[in-house]
Amino acid sequence: MLLLLYHSFMKDLLILGIETSCDETAAAVVKNGTDVLSNVVSSQIDIHALYGGVVPEIASRNHILNIDKVVSKALADASVTLSQIDAIAVTYGAGLVGALFVGVSYAKGLAQASKIPLVGVSHIEGHIASNLLNNKNLKPPFVTILASGGHTSVVLVKSYNQFEVFASTVDDAIGEAFDKVARVLGLPYPGGVAIDKLSQSGSDTFKFKSVLLKNNSFSYSGLKTAVINVVYNANQKGEEINKNDLAKSFTVSAIDGLVQCAVEVCKMTKVNKLAIAGGVAANSYLRQCVKELEKQNIEVFLPELQFCGDNGAMIASRGYFSFLNNDFADLTLTADPTIRLRGTVK
Ligand code: KG4
Ligand code: ZN
Repeated sequence: MLLLLYHSFMKDLLILGIETSCDETAAAVVKNGTDVLSNVVSSQIDIHALYGGVVPEIASRNHILNIDKVVSKALADASVTLSQIDAIAVTYGAGLVGALFVGVSYAKGLAQASKIPLVGVSHIEGHIASNLLNNKNLKPPFVTILASGGHTSVVLVKSYNQFEVFASTVDDAIGEAFDKVARVLGLPYPGGVAIDKLSQSGSDTFKFKSVLLKNNSFSYSGLKTAVINVVYNANQKGEEINKNDLAKSFTVSAIDGLVQCAVEVCKMTKVNKLAIAGGVAANSYLRQCVKELEKQNIEVFLPELQFCGDNGAMIASRGYFSFLNNDFADLTLTADPTIRLRGTVK
């Protein structure tokens, strides 16, 4: 209701979103939290692939080299000037501390010099808001499977500012497990995409244990070790492994428990809307499993592939809700590599 009144009296709000928490330097301009006017992502994947994973120092240096160009392109692509921007939203955590510092320092300088309000955004909350960018009518409450390189949770989104975490990983994140298993199989970084491709022509022959533990938590470390053991045992015996089947078996085990838990949370909370978010939301098997839940009368929302991985548009979208809440940052805003999603862990 308040939002409706706001829209009828206020002009459009343009938010510039800036994201540098890991290995993508990204910026975007988003209107009213949903309309993506531009979305520029400069990926450093090719550089880090040489080392088999993200090298934090190299990530920070490349953010410094790229950020000004990326922000200028985001403004140009949106056909707006800085003077038309209502707020600058920047990721301040979670992520790599040096990488976060680049975005936060840049955004603070830009906000201060141009007298534009500043908003600090949690990367995790940004991923959750990414669903809004191609599902403009997605209104909370809804349940989200948050699956990225650093986070794995099932979350009840009460509003875009308020969350309740129902289940989380007790060890590795799902994306981390994808990347580690890929490395053991000799696949390039980042491994998620490569495992996804392999698994599409494989079968679940290995039948690994579910990642879903009692007390609604997940463990990915055990699954990762089980896959590594299969590879080492085969290597020692000089046996060939069917990599497609191994990738599929790993994927099924990594995802089925997550989806099962999300369905239970939907039932428990009587919220029959389910979204997915984070880099692993691009996974074809996860998308297929979640889509099938429509048969169980669960309304399903999938982010477009361009909004699954790290991007500035999701940060601008989440920042819009902070703006509406008058939740602004000042120059004391700093990088916080370890922030967690706000909300009770059930
Ligand atoms: O959200 P994101 O871009 O960065 C973090 O916030 O961590 O997620 C990156 C993760 C990586 O672990 C990557 O391997 C994984 O997302 N990923 C995938 C797929 N595409 C990216 N995992 C499984 N299947 C995919 N298609
Ligand atoms: Zn992310």
